[in-house]
Amino acid sequence: MTVHPPLEVVVLAAGKGTRMRSDLPKVLHTLAGRPLLAHVLDTVHALGARAVHVVYGHGGERVPQAFPDAGAQWVLQDQQLGTGHAVSAAMPGVPDEATVLVVYGDVPLIRVGTLRALVGAAENAPLALLTVELDEPAAYGRIVREQDEVSRIVEYKDADEAIRAIREINTGFLAARAGNLRRWLAKLDANNAQGEFYLTDVVALAVAEGISVATENPATVSEIEGINSKVELARLERQYQMNKAQELMEQGVILRDPARFDLRGELVAGRDVVIDVNVILEGKVELGDGVHIGPNSIVRDSVIEAGSQVLANCVIEESRIGAGCSVGPFARLRPGAELADRAKAGNFVEIKNSQIAEGSKINHLTYIGDTTMGSGVNIGAGTITANYDGANKHRTVIGDNASIGANSVLIAPVTVGAGATLGAGTMLRKDAPEGTLTISEIRQKTIEGWKRPVKNKP
Ligand code: UD1
Ligand code: CA
Repeated sequence: MTVHPPLEVVVLAAGKGTRMRSDLPKVLHTLAGRPLLAHVLDTVHALGARAVHVVYGHGGERVPQAFPDAGAQWVLQDQQLGTGHAVSAAMPGVPDEATVLVVYGDVPLIRVGTLRALVGAAENAPLALLTVELDEPAAYGRIVREQDEVSRIVEYKDADEAIRAIREINTGFLAARAGNLRRWLAKLDANNAQGEFYLTDVVALAVAEGISVATENPATVSEIEGINSKVELARLERQYQMNKAQELMEQGVILRDPARFDLRGELVAGRDVVIDVNVILEGKVELGDGVHIGPNSIVRDSVIEAGSQVLANCVIEESRIGAGCSVGPFARLRPGAELADRAKAGNFVEIKNSQIAEGSKINHLTYIGDTTMGSGVNIGAGTITANYDGANKHRTVIGDNASIGANSVLIAPVTVGAGATLGAGTMLRKDAPEGTLTISEIRQKTIEGWKRPVKNKP
């Protein structure tokens, strides 16, 4: 059995991000609904790192405060004097025998497999770099090789034309044994075009000790792309969404248009799930076999069981929908809405903190809040549960097979017994007994001889 040295990760997240033109620290900008740094932290935790050190600075305490449960050690880099200076700030907490992996807080799409390969390379060589060849290497640092062996990295701003012509670039990710890295970092100076302590200079220092530097490549270029502007943020958001759409389609989900699908969280989907265009899924969403989600719908932190249909333009949050239900079009299920199997919530229906038992139908223009509803109930159009008296919320209870006439107002707390019927327009202030008909007496009167007003002649 090979014994792997313990892994400690240093996440660089202190930079200013001037080109974001924002008051928000760069790593707190969101991709797929979560801060950039959250994506990176998830990835490094998946590597099984023994410790994660996050170097922060610009934006101050707002950065650590945004991650109260990060399981990270926060290292303040007061002044941002360069990437070498930033890594040095984290090193006092890292023991010599550990392998150190350096990642960036603003490079969110890096994959676990790529980092694993880089760490693996650093277990066999004292220093390993993640590099890639680009057709347009732009302003990245260049990897200089002599007889194929890496000899140094030259930053774009320090490079002459010949070096700028090199297409192999430094992604910034590297891994090395902590004891060695500490020794090299101590020798860095800031004699360069930017007056910074460059982490990249450790390469020439290692080579000067006769060390041969290993390199690894990422599977895709988007993995190593950083975010420096809102244009790049939008581009990587699309890339992320395309990756997620691809994964879901490979698992069997039908996306009517993968370019018009947004996942801001996690989706667990059964077989033959169909998702129409412009659907946004947030938080944890579970869709059972054969579920259809109609166009322009938002589903957040909800479970929808097998065979249910969500028609166009619905908003569903923290809700649970049983099997064979129909929701929408234009329905809003707010937190705590629970529909049992075969229940129905039609157009312009809002349901909040309510349990709707099997097969009950709420078809049109209705508000159901803080309600316990039995099975087989029919709710007429325009029904309102008046659950709020201006100070407190009260419950409405509706028994099995009750029938509520159109435009009724149920003033909670109130109970409708099983099998009870309310006439249209009932203003229910007292309980309606089981099996009875309750109506509100609104006397109808016809006024004989009444005439419509007519316009005055000028
Ligand atoms: C760096 C590399 C360059 C590489 C490029 C890849 C150096 C000297 N150069 O350049 O070779 O091609 O990344 O994107 O390393 N940071 C701090 N504290 C600092 C300075 C930076 O935490 O004092 C953080 C930044 O927030 C950022 C990362 O380090 O996450 C990289 O810094 P940045 O200034 O963007 O480096 P580049 O000039 O792009
Ligand atoms: Ca950068």
